[in-house]
Amino acid sequence: MSRSVRTLAKIKGIIKLNQGAIATSTSGSCRQASSSTNLKDVLEKIIPEKQKEVVEFRKQFGNTKVGEVTIDMMYGGMRGIRGLVTETSVLDPDEGIRFRGYSIPECQKLLPKAPGGNEPLPEGLFWLLVTGEIPSQEQVNAITKEWNDRADIPNHVITMLNNFPSSLHPMSQFSAACTVMNSESKFAKAYAEGVNKSKYWELCYEDSMDLIAKLPTVAAIIYRNLYKEGNPPDPIDKKKDWSWNYTSMLGFDNPEFVELMRLYLTIHTDHEGGNVSAHAVHLVGSALSDPYLSFAAGMNGLAGPLHGLANQEVLVWTTKLQESLGGEVTDDQLREFIWNTLKSGQVVPGYGHAVLRKTDPRYTCQREFALKHLPNDPLFKLVAQIYKVVPDILIEQGKAKNPWPNVDAHSGVLLQYYGLKEMNYYTVMFGVSRALGVLASLIWDRALGLPIERPKSFDTPQLKKIAVAAAQKK
Ligand SMILES: CC(C)(COP(=O)(O)OP(=O)(O)OC[C@H]1O[C@@H](n2cnc3c(N)ncnc32)[C@H](O)[C@@H]1OP(=O)(O)O)[C@@H](O)C(=O)NCCC(=O)NCCS
Repeated sequence: MSRSVRTLAKIKGIIKLNQGAIATSTSGSCRQASSSTNLKDVLEKIIPEKQKEVVEFRKQFGNTKVGEVTIDMMYGGMRGIRGLVTETSVLDPDEGIRFRGYSIPECQKLLPKAPGGNEPLPEGLFWLLVTGEIPSQEQVNAITKEWNDRADIPNHVITMLNNFPSSLHPMSQFSAACTVMNSESKFAKAYAEGVNKSKYWELCYEDSMDLIAKLPTVAAIIYRNLYKEGNPPDPIDKKKDWSWNYTSMLGFDNPEFVELMRLYLTIHTDHEGGNVSAHAVHLVGSALSDPYLSFAAGMNGLAGPLHGLANQEVLVWTTKLQESLGGEVTDDQLREFIWNTLKSGQVVPGYGHAVLRKTDPRYTCQREFALKHLPNDPLFKLVAQIYKVVPDILIEQGKAKNPWPNVDAHSGVLLQYYGLKEMNYYTVMFGVSRALGVLASLIWDRALGLPIERPKSFDTPQLKKIAVAAAQKK
């Protein structure tokens, strides 16, 4: 090929590339292309187009460099290494998360609501994450119906949950239940029977829909076994949405709390691909472990105090603060308590982030919910006061790269207000929501045929050799 022909081909490719980028841009306008209410049918149409797009893109730009890796990055938790493809959401350090290009306020505005409700339905966010399109009310209703129809859980899971000791952390119970529910995996069964790999995404889709449908019941049984004398939850009401049913199975009927749950279960879904839970699901799924096993792996990561468990930690820490300082607290008392936390070698839970560099919009939308519904709640006032004081202290300490609050700094106070006071349980609710993001991604992992993940590692002596060789070249 002559140089001019090659250049022309490249220019054509760039024009096409820009067109693709516009189709998923951060415009905030409403993309709504499909009219079918069957999500699988919609995917059947979208997936071949996207597969073709990725094949062409890789053919033309596969050698393009997107970043570099330093030795510090390797020792430093791979921070900043550009090494993953995740289609469902992208995190901007300053602006926060965008789900398929839509910010949280845009999702709150554009996604369908329950009758009489103001907050988006998580069913709609799932449709958006999977397809990239804002669903219609009918499409969202169809997802609700499918999840309600798939909600039954196997008896052996109920027996297992009922036999766990009450000392076992709710997250361990949740993860174990997800693991053993793989008795139901259509993916694992079909794989064992030698299914063609072109069918992987469909089986992953079926398992994901089944698993998401079953999670509220599993999570409610855990809650009721631990905190409500083991009374089993009421059966699913097939006329109601996913969040309503989950809240009701926990034992709550305040419509305002149901609205909070719709928001909560929407905003905790997805935070691009590198966070521990999302990355773990993607990694384990890459070995073709079925969606139940892959999701359980993510939940074991979410159970870590630097990740999802931070929402429990925030309340533990705030309760200690209240116990040690009493009711009304001055800013100076607060400062002293926070400095003591730092001096004792602990982190301030709910603050900081590996990628974000501003206040998390998931914090902001929960704060707005609180300002609207519980502006005079003493715990909310304390959380708001902490927000005024902590960032300056973290800046003064000079260690944390991000002194601003993340999602976990606010969720507990809202749950406490509506009477869900068992903070050990909070990460399970986070996990129920996170399923929507990580499983939407897993469907795309299989649709795009992403291979087993296996980055190269080195030991320190080898790295030293690489470093010496690089220094000698200079
Ligand atoms: C989220 C988190 C794990 C990110 O970790 P990270 O990317 O390594 O963060 P940084 O690069 O800013 O860390 C640099 C230093 O600041 C410290 N730091 C970060 N956030 C801090 C916080 N909230 N309180 C005190 N110190 C903090 C780190 O521990 C680290 O200290 P070290 O050098 O002694 O090891 C971290 O901010 C944290 O532990 N936050 C509290 C837990 C939390 O809220 N987790 C939920 C996240 S959504």
